[in-house]
Amino acid sequence: MPEEVQKGLEDVVALSSRITFIDGKEGRLVYEGYDIRELAEHSTFEEVAYLLWYGRLPTTTQLEDLRGRLRPLRTLPEELRALLDRLPATASPMDALRTAVSALATLEPGETRTGASSIGGALRLTAALPTIISEQHRRRQGLAPLPVRPELDHAAHTLYQLTGREGTPLENRALDVALILHADHELNASTFAARVTASTLSDLYSAVTSAIGTLKGPLHGGANERVMELLRSVANDEEIEAAVQQRLARHERIMGFGHRVYKVEDPRATILRDWSRRLGEAAGNLTWYRRLRRVEEVVHREKGLYPNVDLYSGSVYTLLGIPDDLFTPLFAVSRVAGWTAHVLEEYEDLRLIRPVAQYIGPNHLTYVPIEQRTA
Ligand code: SDX
Repeated sequence: MPEEVQKGLEDVVALSSRITFIDGKEGRLVYEGYDIRELAEHSTFEEVAYLLWYGRLPTTTQLEDLRGRLRPLRTLPEELRALLDRLPATASPMDALRTAVSALATLEPGETRTGASSIGGALRLTAALPTIISEQHRRRQGLAPLPVRPELDHAAHTLYQLTGREGTPLENRALDVALILHADHELNASTFAARVTASTLSDLYSAVTSAIGTLKGPLHGGANERVMELLRSVANDEEIEAAVQQRLARHERIMGFGHRVYKVEDPRATILRDWSRRLGEAAGNLTWYRRLRRVEEVVHREKGLYPNVDLYSGSVYTLLGIPDDLFTPLFAVSRVAGWTAHVLEEYEDLRLIRPVAQYIGPNHLTYVPIEQRTA
C-alpha cells in the first residue's frame, strides 16, 4: 500500500539530476555547480545553455561554435509562417507558441529525435522560440517579420525581435541576465511535465510542447503579468499599500510572492530587483521599482512571505518595452534550455515516470443492468 499521499508531490524526491540544485533554506540556486549569482555576473545565456546541455562551461571555441550553430536556426520555415498566419490574431501568445512547436515537429521530423542526438532539436528550439513569439507579436500588429541580425547575440537578438529596435548595452545585458536566471529551476511543474513525456521515449518536441502547456497555468507562469496589473491599478505610490491590503483582506494571493521550495528570498528576485532599479534609473522612471519596494514591505510585514522570481521580472520587461502577455512566452524562451537539458538527461538514464495513486473510491460493486438503475 502506498505511503501517505504527498499532495502536489510536495518534498517528494522523484529522481536524481546533476543539472540544478536549489537550497531552499539558504536561498541558493546552482546550475551544474555554479552559483546563479556568479553566472548572472559573468556569464551569457548561450554559455549557460551550453553548461546545462553539456555539464561544463564551454571553451572560447566551443562557445563560438554554439553561437554559429544557433544563428541560422533563428529563421522559421515558410510553411510554419503560413500555418501561424491562419491562427486568429487574438490567439494567446502561449497557445500560438505551443502550436508552433508542435507544428515545427511535423515540418522537421529529423530534428524531433529522442536520445543524445536530440541535442539538434534543443538547439533548434532554443534559437527558434524568440522568432516564433516575436513574429506572432508582429503578425497581430499587421507587421511583417524582421530580418535576422546574425551579428547580435541571443539576448540582443531576442530584444531586437520583440521591440523592432536594437537595445542599448544596458538593456541587452538586462535581458541576458533575465534569460540566465530563468534557464532552469530543477523539477518545477513544466520541467517535470517535459521529463514525464520524455520518460515514455516520446520525442523532444513533444516534451517541450507538454512543458509549454504546463507553464501556461497561472500558478506557474504569468504571475509577473498580475504583478504589473497590481502596480498599474493605483494612481500613485501612496495608494499601493491599500491595494495590497484589500487583496489580502479578500484572501487573494499577491503574485510574485511565496514559493514551494524557497523559504527565504528567491535569489533570482534579489538580482532582478537590482536590474529593475538600474533600468528605471536609466529610463528616468523608478515608479515600478518604488511601488514594488512598498509591496514587498507590506507583504513581508503582513504575511511573512518573500519575493520570488516573478516579482521584479515584469518591471524589467516593461522597462525593456516588452508587452505583458509576452512575459510568459519569454519565460519559455529561456526555460527551453532547461527543459531540453532535462529531456536529454532523462534519455541518458531512462526510467518510465509512473507514480501510483492512493485509491479512495468504492470497491467490489456488482454490475446493475441499466433498466434496473433508479438514480
Ligand atoms: C514560479 O516551482 C518552481 O520552481 C516555479 C518557478 C520556476 O522557476 O519554475 O520558480 C517559477 O512559478 C514562481 C512562482 C510564481 N507564482 C506566483 O507568484 C503565484 C503566487 N504564489 C503562490 O501561488 C504560491 O506561493 C506558490 C504557488 C508559488 C507556492 O505555493 P505552495 O508552496 O503550494 O504554498 P501554499 O499554497 O501551500 O501556501 C502556503 C501558505 C498559504 O496560507 P494558508 O492558507 O496556509 O494560511 O502561504 C500562503 C497561502 O495562502 N501564500 C500566499 C501566497 N503564497 C502562499 N498568500 C498570499 N500571497 C501569496 N503569493
